[in-house]
Amino acid sequence: MSEQIVNVQENKEEPKKRIFSGVQPSGVLTLGNYLGAIKNWVTLQDDYECLYCVVDLHAITVRQVPADLRKHTQEALALYIACGIDPEKSCVFVQSHVPAHAELSWVLGCNTMFGELSRMTQFKDKSQKHADNVNAGLFTYPVLMAADILLYGTDLVPVGADQKQHVELARDIAGRFNGVYSDTFTVPEPFFVKTGMKIYSLTDPTKKMSKSDPNPKSYVSIIETRDETIKKIKSAVTDSDTAVRYAQGKDGINNLMSIYSSFTGKGYDEIEREFDGKGYGEFKAAVGEVCADGLESVRNEYARLVKDKAYLEEVMKKGADTASYLARKTLSKVYRKVGFYSVK
Ligand code: TYM
Repeated sequence: MSEQIVNVQENKEEPKKRIFSGVQPSGVLTLGNYLGAIKNWVTLQDDYECLYCVVDLHAITVRQVPADLRKHTQEALALYIACGIDPEKSCVFVQSHVPAHAELSWVLGCNTMFGELSRMTQFKDKSQKHADNVNAGLFTYPVLMAADILLYGTDLVPVGADQKQHVELARDIAGRFNGVYSDTFTVPEPFFVKTGMKIYSLTDPTKKMSKSDPNPKSYVSIIETRDETIKKIKSAVTDSDTAVRYAQGKDGINNLMSIYSSFTGKGYDEIEREFDGKGYGEFKAAVGEVCADGLESVRNEYARLVKDKAYLEEVMKKGADTASYLARKTLSKVYRKVGFYSVK
């Protein structure tokens, strides 16, 4: 039993609320992942018991090149740490290292309705985008996400706005299971940041910024160079107006204001005053600068960490030990409740 497992048990007296979240290693993580999720995870580590997972099982719902998936998994873990997740404080692990996720997913799938899954907007979007591979995993993806969350008695799930519907489904599944089999799962709450909840594409600001977008100009990668970041933001699509104002129909400017606000902590009114009488060019240059500055320490730390395979694997192993211990307890309870025969 690792030291971290012992800590988890010792905390029983004064239990902190538990947090679970994850990112798919389906590409290089973007500014959207950072501002909508990971930056927020970092601030929660002292007040909550946090589990942060690299969700590789989710990633194969879309065809991945195996060597790239392995590489992106290691990179995502390095990025979590480079962004400020401390593996001594939080449990950091890879989803496929803890088989209980897939096991609980089966049981929960038998308690999820076809109609519920059919209503998921991400399924509709992704099945249009990947029309040649509308596989069953893509459809049941939210059940696996519910398993991730419910395995750990999670109270709060810090995510971007695009994941809200999935967290709501996890709540419904937990409530239904508890109703049928008696109280088993904690019913989780989604947890959002004020700004940066949804960062939009730089080339089409009506679409979410996504790491799987084939056009690299549409996203800022957390680890690209300072110059690349500034250049991409400079060429972000905006409108034909000139005033820096947060308003309906100004999707591109609204998006850049949201990015600027996330890095500087300034409200939209303050940003409007700061750029009053100045054009989009000046504003875009300022957004590029704060963004590149804000990501600088992450970039440097990442460059160092990603080379240290031995350390990253040690973190993965320790994280998987802790997560497996917690997950097994929930899974045994679930198996007992649904009537699976167990032998001692
Ligand atoms: P994924 O990998 O698409 O994104 C990871 C996190 O980043 C947030 N995010 C964004 N936030 C703001 N603007 C954007 N453009 C943007 N793009 C992504 C997402 O909301 C998410 O918080 N299904 C999840 C992964 C997952 C998960 C979980 C999350 C699997 N199991 C359990 C929480 C709990 C996903 O595809 O995230």
